Amino acid sequence: MVNHLAGKTVVITGASQGLGKQLALQLSAFDTSLALIARTESELSKVRTEISQNGGTAEYFVCDITEFSQVQTTFANIVKEFGIIDILVNGAGIWTTDEFEKRDPMLVEKAFLVNSIGPIYCTKQVLPIMKNKNSGHILNVISKSGLDVPENKDWPTYTATKWAVTGYTKAIQESLRDTKIKVSAFYPAGFESNIFETAGETDAHDQPWMMRTADVANAIVSMLNTPDDLVIKGIEMSNI
Ligand SMILES: NC(=O)c1ccc[n+]([C@@H]2O[C@H](COP(=O)([O-])OP(=O)(O)OC[C@H]3O[C@@H](n4cnc5c(N)ncnc54)[C@H](OP(=O)(O)O)[C@@H]3O)[C@@H](O)[C@H]2O)c1
Repeated sequence: MVNHLAGKTVVITGASQGLGKQLALQLSAFDTSLALIARTESELSKVRTEISQNGGTAEYFVCDITEFSQVQTTFANIVKEFGIIDILVNGAGIWTTDEFEKRDPMLVEKAFLVNSIGPIYCTKQVLPIMKNKNSGHILNVISKSGLDVPENKDWPTYTATKWAVTGYTKAIQESLRDTKIKVSAFYPAGFESNIFETAGETDAHDQPWMMRTADVANAIVSMLNTPDDLVIKGIEMSNI
């Protein structure tokens, strides 16, 4: 496989576990410099160690993406550490359903903050950098729920948070149309991770409908590993 990613600095939010961690591990084999963002330092540290032991380059940055001032400081620190940001993967997210919101109504706000507003805050930090060099790639990990209305109607808030990112992604694709900055949307169906367990779901693992996280991360690598003059604007991924 041709490596178009060598030497690039990639920021991944949600890199402490799940898809973001898997993506970081896979991208580290492409001679990238990785900036890993999440809130849990102990997990981020483990990911960095694993990458370093495999000969890769990574640094972690503890940051709550729902706090604008933390996001500003974090991205400034990433630029201080690596000099540039070439790629941003907005991967952090949380799961919510009507049932959970009955018990905790503030989950509605939290879900929008993490799933919709956080990615916008992060994108706003990299856009000036990318515009300045007229190159770069922003990839938003959305969800199939950000593309269709799911058959099961138990998660309208989650769906709305993801549709918000779909809207934002399409809008910036349009506004960056005359630049060399790539913007991609990734719409996976369910895959194995801790997201459902963290939210409090039972049956949160090993479900037949769950895709393997490594396969999902691999699809993102393919979306990122394109020549400078090509962009994959959107991919929907699910089990057959
Ligand atoms: N799993 C699925 O079936 C599925 C399907 C479609 C789309 N997705 C989307 O895929 C993305 C990754 O999900 P996943 O399944 O890999 O979830 P996961 O294993 O629960 O990982 C979520 C990541 O987001 C981080 N995060 C959560 N809140 C944060 C905050 N306020 N600030 C910074 N980081 C935060 C978590 O780290 P800390 O807790 O350490 O902060 C963690 O690294 C999400 O956007 C999710 O909506 C998932």
